Amino acid sequence: MKSKLVVGNWKMNGDRVRNQALLDKVSRHSPAQVECAVCVPFPYLAQAQEALAGSPVAFGAQDVSEFTEGAYTGEVSAGMLRDFACRYAIVGHSERRMLFGEDDALVARKAAAVLRVGLVPIVCVGESLAEREAGRVEAVLQRQLDALVQHLASDMLGQLVVAYEPVWAIGTGRAASPEQVQAVLGFIRQWLREHADSADEVRILYGGSVKPDTALELFALPDSDGGLIGGASLVADQFIEICEAAAIASQSE
Ligand code: PGA
Repeated sequence: MKSKLVVGNWKMNGDRVRNQALLDKVSRHSPAQVECAVCVPFPYLAQAQEALAGSPVAFGAQDVSEFTEGAYTGEVSAGMLRDFACRYAIVGHSERRMLFGEDDALVARKAAAVLRVGLVPIVCVGESLAEREAGRVEAVLQRQLDALVQHLASDMLGQLVVAYEPVWAIGTGRAASPEQVQAVLGFIRQWLREHADSADEVRILYGGSVKPDTALELFALPDSDGGLIGGASLVADQFIEICEAAAIASQSE
C-alpha cells in the first residue's frame, strides 16, 4: 500500500550552514510512518546526499532538463540527478511555468526524462485565480494532464507523483479549502483511472500554503496522499509537524 508523502520544496533558499541544520533536524525527527523528502537547489544535492545518508528522508531536485546530455549550457540532466542518488524531481512547478515560460508539452517531456532514468517526477498542476474565477479549473487541469499522455505510456503514468498546487494558494498564506482541494484531487484521480495503470497507487499531493495547523485536515481528504510544502519546509519544526500530521492522517485510513 502506498504511504503518504510529504515533500519540501526549498525553492531558491538556503546556504550550506542553514541547510545542514535543517537536514540534520529533519533526518533525526521525521516520523517513520510517512515518506518525507526535500527538494533542494542543484548545488546542494551533494550536501543533501551526505547529510541524509542512512536516513529514511529522501531528496530530489526542483527542475530537470528534458535532454539527456550535450551542448545545453546551464542544464542539469536526469542522469546527473540519479548520480547524486536523488529519488525525485519536481517538474512543471507554477513558478517555472510562469517565470520561465515552461509549457505543458515541455513539462511532459521533462517528466518522461525523469522516468527514463528511474527517478520519480513530481508533476505540478494547478489553476490561476483568474482561471478559477472564470470557472475553468477542470478545463485547465485537463489540459495540463492530457499533455502527459503525448509523452508517457500508461505504465509510466502510473509511476508519477502528481501535485495539485493552485497558483493563488502558493506562498500567499491562503490555502485552498478542504472542499476545493478534494474536488480537484478527485478529478485528478478520475483522470488517472482513465489513463494510467495502477491509478489508485499514484500519489496525489496538495501544495499551497500548507502549515502545521492546516496539514491534518488536508492530508485526511479521501484522495490526498500528502503534500508539497514550500515556506514551511524551511523551518525544521514546522516541516516535522507537517510530516507528523501526515502520519496521523495515514493511521486513520
Ligand atoms: P508554499 O509553496 O507552501 O510556500 O505555498 C508551495 C510550493 O510552491 O510548492
